[in-house]
Amino acid sequence: MGAMKRSPLVLVLLLSLCSSLALASYSYGEESSGSGRPYHYGEESFRHWTRSRQGRFRVLERFTHELLEDAVGNYRVAELEAAPRAFLQPSHYDADEVMFVKEGEGVVALLYRGKRESFCVKEGDVLVIPAGAVVYSANTHGSRWFRVVMLLNPVSTTGRFEEFFPIGGESPESFFSVFSDDVLQAAFNTRREEWEQVFEKQSKGEITTASEEQIRELSRSCSRGGRGHGDGESMWDIKPSSLTGKRPRHSNNHGRHYEITGDDCPQLRALDIEVGLANITRGSMMVPSYSTHAYKVAIVVEGSGYFEMACPHLSGGRARGHDSRERGREEEEEGREEQEGGQKSRSYKQVRSRIKEGSVIAIPPGHPTTLVASEDKNLAVLCFGINARHDEKVFLAGSNSVLRQMDEPAKVLAFGAEREKVDRVIGAQTDAIFVRGPGSRRISSA
Ligand SMILES: *[C@@H]1O[C@H](CO)[C@@H](O)[C@H](O)[C@H]1NC(C)=O
Repeated sequence: MGAMKRSPLVLVLLLSLCSSLALASYSYGEESSGSGRPYHYGEESFRHWTRSRQGRFRVLERFTHELLEDAVGNYRVAELEAAPRAFLQPSHYDADEVMFVKEGEGVVALLYRGKRESFCVKEGDVLVIPAGAVVYSANTHGSRWFRVVMLLNPVSTTGRFEEFFPIGGESPESFFSVFSDDVLQAAFNTRREEWEQVFEKQSKGEITTASEEQIRELSRSCSRGGRGHGDGESMWDIKPSSLTGKRPRHSNNHGRHYEITGDDCPQLRALDIEVGLANITRGSMMVPSYSTHAYKVAIVVEGSGYFEMACPHLSGGRARGHDSRERGREEEEEGREEQEGGQKSRSYKQVRSRIKEGSVIAIPPGHPTTLVASEDKNLAVLCFGINARHDEKVFLAGSNSVLRQMDEPAKVLAFGAEREKVDRVIGAQTDAIFVRGPGSRRISSA
């Protein structure tokens, strides 16, 4: 009774506390739980280069943020989607390209180094296409879409690449059309009008539809590569390799991890890129881990969930405490320089964002990161590792946690807690890499 009478004051206090908490969590949500910038990119960050009923090609904006530009500013992410029996006009890029077939099947023909090779590719394949190779391709399926995600490494202008079409009409235009009449006539030994009737006749755009018969013929000569080229290890012996068809590097009930490295593919070694795929079971997660050298550009190819990353660069603010967060922001404004007394801030900010099919995350080396699958669907994340040569993955929890390798006296010193307690905590997770997620967590209280 008495408490009820005194309540107005308590209520006011409570209300003001709540509203400041609400404000705090709102701004927290804005800056770190929301967009995940500059490390996370959603749908809105893609721009269409072409879009029609036959398919589309979209390119992610450049990684121009100061925290990313030096390391990955020269790489671009793109997605290609082709309708059943779509045919893509021949073209070349001024960029090396690592492509991953996310869905469907197709034929990819490369005109390169004086020969033509047609590859049959299917879901889960990785293929490296060198800059300058003339490529045309088709979706060979009669009813399914052919979807490809790719990482491009421009060779001329940092972070920019262009597509060059030899044959066209209005859009795309043939690049030949800019040459003067005399030059074209001399080069082709043909009158300009005649030349135009051939090279500029295509008026249906860069993605057209082939007949069933044409698709059959296009795929007739396609192979999985490696024909008559010695041991198949030559730099120029391009062929698709199946990422998901090989044995997973890690596998348990909570997920599987596949990888193609420079050891498996000489073109990837030359580009210093590796390709990985983490397929995390619904309701499960990948424990916090980091890469020692590789910068990861990750693309969600299936499902949804979220990621969290510990980020020292954004500010010294700890996500949890309101005050330290504000301090963190001030430091950031001061250009992330040293604090008074010459001491550098030793705290981290949480970067977190929901992710779904098509989301892109840039993960710098050394930054502890975790991926969590939603409760209802597997989360599959394709990872391009840039600067992959000396890369190792370091896991921070689970049975292969790096912390378990500390020796006993160091554990006591470093943790400042009883040894048994330390061992209990770092030993409690008995799975490795992929574990039960937070939503379906059952903590053992042994
Ligand atoms: C992920 O695993 C599920 C279940 O095994 C499978 O159906 C799905 O195709 C896999 N996704 C990818 C992209 O490999």
